[in-house]
Amino acid sequence: MEQVNRGNFGSKLGAILAAAGSAIGLGNVWRFPYETGANGGGAFLVLYLCCVLIIGVPLMVAEFAVGRRSRTNGYRAFPTLGAKGVWKYVGFLCVLTGWLILCYYVVVQGWTIEYVVQAGVNGLAGKTPADYASDFTNFVSDPIKPLLYLFLSVGLTLGVILMGVQKGIERASKVLMPLLFVFIVILVGCSVTLPGAGDGIKFLLYPDFSKVTPATFLAAMGQAFFSLSIGMGCLCTYASYFPKEANLFGNALNIAGIDTMIAILSGLIIFPAAYAVGIEPGAGPSLVFITLPNVFYQAFGQWPWLAYAFSLMFYLLLAMAALTSAISLLEPPTLWIHEEFHIRRRYAAPIATAICVLVGIACSLSMGVWDGYKIGGMNLFDFFDFTTAKILLPLGGLLTALFVGWKMDKKALLSEISNERVLPQTLIRIYYALIRVVLPLAIIAIFLNELGLFGF
Ligand code: TRP
Repeated sequence: MEQVNRGNFGSKLGAILAAAGSAIGLGNVWRFPYETGANGGGAFLVLYLCCVLIIGVPLMVAEFAVGRRSRTNGYRAFPTLGAKGVWKYVGFLCVLTGWLILCYYVVVQGWTIEYVVQAGVNGLAGKTPADYASDFTNFVSDPIKPLLYLFLSVGLTLGVILMGVQKGIERASKVLMPLLFVFIVILVGCSVTLPGAGDGIKFLLYPDFSKVTPATFLAAMGQAFFSLSIGMGCLCTYASYFPKEANLFGNALNIAGIDTMIAILSGLIIFPAAYAVGIEPGAGPSLVFITLPNVFYQAFGQWPWLAYAFSLMFYLLLAMAALTSAISLLEPPTLWIHEEFHIRRRYAAPIATAICVLVGIACSLSMGVWDGYKIGGMNLFDFFDFTTAKILLPLGGLLTALFVGWKMDKKALLSEISNERVLPQTLIRIYYALIRVVLPLAIIAIFLNELGLFGF
């Protein structure tokens, strides 16, 4: 019964697509470029790629293995696989992290919907780069408007979870995500041909290691976790529906590969455009929202209808990508309330959402009227982003790796990741060394480095 209630993907392949849908979202198009911009460009990209390969992919395989083996969700999976004592609480950390991410994720999701509307009413046309910047600032600092969009995006996410329209979403994603990809490729073409774009390409692709600080390592690792949806058991839930014969390595590599490609391509849209119109690459969360309209209207200047159609389609697709990711973030808290407090899903989901809305409102207002309230020098929005992506996700990942590497039954793990030994033994040995030793040490080293212990 529980199995049926936990969600219903139309097909087993659908579960894998859903995992990809969770990974591909605002993290790629919105967060990756601004983190890259704020952390010096090319060198950040190199560190990011290392984190994806050394930490991201093995951890994704681990989450898949835990999920498929236990056939349950992220926070239940650990006790199911024999976790005792403190390990039992790893699941709770996962639920909490997802919740906290969702609180500010829906704020940005709301911004994308505002841009869908603006594109729809042709409100982006005929403006200067400075107008785009001031329009964005005025919008996010407005005390009412972003909140309305916040409610709308939360409502949409909740609606999908409640109506169980995953099937519809899943079918739609099969068409929409490739379409998003095509759009992104075309926009890269437009952006890199803007006058003055060369500097932006150089900024992204030429690694200047003198810009690397301890914070760059942490930022790159955090971005890898965020973008791949790992570190909070999100992918466990999806993997519990994976077919027995699904190759966990293959899927992890594919998902990570597509996810990274979309992030890099987004960078190739944003940075050339930012340099072409003179916007600081370190502009922070506003970066994408200010530069993108410029790309549409500068590149298609002579054909306003094309700029119109393109911008509308693009923001719609981005909002869809954000929705599939937000669903994956709302699912763990919902399930936790449902199973732990024996409250029906129908009520559990709105409760989970209500808490997220309350905190989300504070995050949204912290971009405007509440900007004066700082925690550790950051406004609430940045603080949530920092604690979740750069502390809680890596911590969750570290604990997952330690559990899988040292506590989980070795036979069970190996038979799961090797699909009953179809995979080559060498690969499995390398994997085991990575997950037991290399990955935990890498995460700890990055944390310690941030605290100034190594001073790289
Ligand atoms: N990966 C998503 C994005 O790139 C965000 C996301 C969804 C996420 N589920 C997650 C991040 C779980 C961390 C953990 O937009």
